[in-house]
Amino acid sequence: MNFTEPPESRRVETGEAVAASVAPARKVFIKTYGCQMNVYDSQRMGDALAESGYIATEAIDDADLVLLNTCHIREKAAEKVYSELGRIRQLKTARERAGREMTIGVAGCVAQAEGEEILRRSPVVDLVIGPQSYHRLPDVVRRARRGEKIVETDYAIEDKFEHLPAPDRAAVRSRGVTAFLTIQEGCDKFCTFCVVPYTRGSEVSRPVAQIVAEAERLAAAGVREITLLGQNVNAWHGEGPGGHEWGLGQLLFRLAEIPGLARLRYTTSHPRDMDDVLIAAHRDLPALMPYLHLPVQSGSNRILKVMNRRHTAADYLKLIERIRSVRPDIAMSGDFIVGFPGETTADFEATLELVRSVRYAQAFSFKYSRRPGTPGADMDGQVPETDKDERLQRLQALLAEQQREFAVSLVGRGVDLLLEKPGREPGQQVGRSPWLLPVIVDEKAGEIGDIVEVRITKAGRNSLHADINRDAGH
Ligand code: 5AD
Ligand code: SF4
Repeated sequence: MNFTEPPESRRVETGEAVAASVAPARKVFIKTYGCQMNVYDSQRMGDALAESGYIATEAIDDADLVLLNTCHIREKAAEKVYSELGRIRQLKTARERAGREMTIGVAGCVAQAEGEEILRRSPVVDLVIGPQSYHRLPDVVRRARRGEKIVETDYAIEDKFEHLPAPDRAAVRSRGVTAFLTIQEGCDKFCTFCVVPYTRGSEVSRPVAQIVAEAERLAAAGVREITLLGQNVNAWHGEGPGGHEWGLGQLLFRLAEIPGLARLRYTTSHPRDMDDVLIAAHRDLPALMPYLHLPVQSGSNRILKVMNRRHTAADYLKLIERIRSVRPDIAMSGDFIVGFPGETTADFEATLELVRSVRYAQAFSFKYSRRPGTPGADMDGQVPETDKDERLQRLQALLAEQQREFAVSLVGRGVDLLLEKPGREPGQQVGRSPWLLPVIVDEKAGEIGDIVEVRITKAGRNSLHADINRDAGH
């Protein structure tokens, strides 16, 4: 999963019905940390609050309700929340002096993992709510506004997705022509470095009908591309028509039938759950984009074993070979951890070797971060920070080189772009290539939501440039 922090807090959009209500609307500011699943959750929390009269604001000091949707994956991510709460405390004091209230909530994985502890460490917080309880958010907020301090982190018995309101058309449209859709939550893999099985609980798959209905609603509102999300998305399973057991592959075939939906993606996958139907989907479904985020974490078999990944470097390489044999243009992406306990220079060299043979188009790499409660935290052979720094630098230099090579290899090619938004300069448009890389078209190529063929003219540092492909044969 891509755990980069979104550049800015996400806006929560609300429907016209709310804007037209008589009582002055309260405002909510939601800041999202961490992965795409949190981005999706923040939208759903916004939808739930919209129903009880909240409108979104991007100005934190103007908010009646501030929600931090947090990430616990690495220590730094969790610590960020506490420093943000320090800043918010000052804002809240200033607002109270002006006679206005501010309710502060912590949601997401830090909320789930630390619960009560958050109230002790940060008394400014009014409510703590875990990811399984978001359908209860409006009620929790009401109680918090009456002065109750609330910690809601039980794994709810009811299905939150059944109780969370769907966004209205206007809200979907304002979020753009691409959308996330969470189909699976939690993880049963228990990699020894990872908090996810503890913070998000065991694997749960949403039912087929619920997913199809949500995808149809998104498509009807103008969404052209959906990214299916799950901590272990390719472990998704459900019951198809006639009681047949479906995996992610079958689900993708079904979603590809939805009118208007042109593109499908999914993330994040575990190598052990890439089954034959899913690989066949990459071969047979033009809507399934040729991009696969398949974390490997390490290239050393010894380290993979202590990480409890339950596959070897050779298994992973063989798998990629199989996928590439059916979809040669697939762009590979991965996650890496350097400095896991016991990692020697030779282990690290094996990771570099694996990277060299895969040739990644995109990648995310991290220094091992000790997470209390996970088996890795108590293992012998913790690697000194200076070694981790040095290894990370070397790995990132190699990955950056490969990303650059991939971008340059596209120059001169005709590429289908999904036009997403106007560019920064007048007349420019920004679109998304099949390989996820953003492309700037220096002239108007079509309407937002159109898929147009362009010709890549140059590869910049973070994006590609293109012009309209006038040689295109259609
Ligand atoms: N330390 C460093 N990186 C981690 N990740 C997960 N847990 C840790 C940890 N304790 C990384 C893995 C995972 C990605 C989402 O975050 O690479 O795939
Ligand atoms: Fe964490 Fe491993 Fe599960 Fe991924 S597969 S969420 S890294 S435990």
